[in-house]
Amino acid sequence: MESLIIAPSILAANFAELGSEIDMLNASQAEWIHVDVMDGMFVPNISFGFPVLEAVNKRATKVLDVHLMIEKPERYLEAFAKAGAQVLTVHYETCPHLHRTIQQIKDLGCLAGVALNPSTPVHVIEDVLADVDLVLIMSVNPGFGGQKFIPNAIKKTKELAELAASKGLTKLKIEIDGGVSTANALDLIEAGANVLVAGNFVFSSSNPIETIANLVKLGN
Ligand code: DX5
Ligand code: ZN
Repeated sequence: MESLIIAPSILAANFAELGSEIDMLNASQAEWIHVDVMDGMFVPNISFGFPVLEAVNKRATKVLDVHLMIEKPERYLEAFAKAGAQVLTVHYETCPHLHRTIQQIKDLGCLAGVALNPSTPVHVIEDVLADVDLVLIMSVNPGFGGQKFIPNAIKKTKELAELAASKGLTKLKIEIDGGVSTANALDLIEAGANVLVAGNFVFSSSNPIETIANLVKLGN
């Protein structure tokens, strides 16, 4: 396995001090910064959009991993790529023409990801698995940070890792998002996860840089 990527979610950051929060992440062992975009339609919450992403992009030295929890994401892919997204993940549940949407993301030069809600089984993406760079397994219902981890995500991670292996897709990134902490990270890594998002676990800790380092260590 390639080394474990930790992607702190800035949804849990202090927005009044966003610049110094990004500086902290730049100084940490996090390789990616996870950016949660919510539209108040697909999910019952609204977070932030292009101006915030652009500002983060100016300050961040890490890969911006943009998780689109929005309806009809194809309308905005180009704008998100221009604003600095390097990884663009759309939800399976929002894309009736998923294959086309994935191609659009790749044409923009971004890594293409597909996210699955807790109630969406892994097998539905079998026919696009060879086309994507990343699958994001939601381990909470999307919309809010700080929720309780849903343990079934571990089983889904294993299923996905096995499906990818059966197709020889050794480079697939398997990202887990929601309620991730040192209490479940090792189980997820053993099941096949290689990207872990962590919001509150990182930003609510007394020493976020050390918390990130502790998560990274679990992957070694
Ligand atoms: C939930 C978001 C997550 C969230 C993770 O809709 O997609 O990325 O910010 O936050 P924690 O780690 O606090 O559950
Ligand atoms: Zn997310």
